[in-house]
Amino acid sequence: MNKPEHHLFICGSARASGELKGVCCNKESINLLSYAQGEVQDRMLNGVEVSMTGCLNMCTRGPVIIDYPAGHFYEKATEELIDEILDSIEDGEVCKTNLISED
Ligand code: FES
Repeated sequence: MNKPEHHLFICGSARASGELKGVCCNKESINLLSYAQGEVQDRMLNGVEVSMTGCLNMCTRGPVIIDYPAGHFYEKATEELIDEILDSIEDGEVCKTNLISED
């Protein structure tokens, strides 16, 4: 298996205990995971993977998505944002919507 060019990690709010507890999961981030996986399949995007991750310690900005390895962090994720992120990936660009700037 080749390394993905874009690995989207969607916060699932998991704590070290395995418990799902936090802002992102309360805002339906688990459904976003399914949505993103379906979109990647429907669009037949090679080199794009989607996984759930534990709490990213940015809870007030959740649901949070990381585009790895580029290191782009997105806040307040929705299905519409996922569409925009995937559109940008298809266009070879960086999605600017809800991008958390380095400050
Ligand atoms: S629960 Fe998602 S960043 Fe903390």
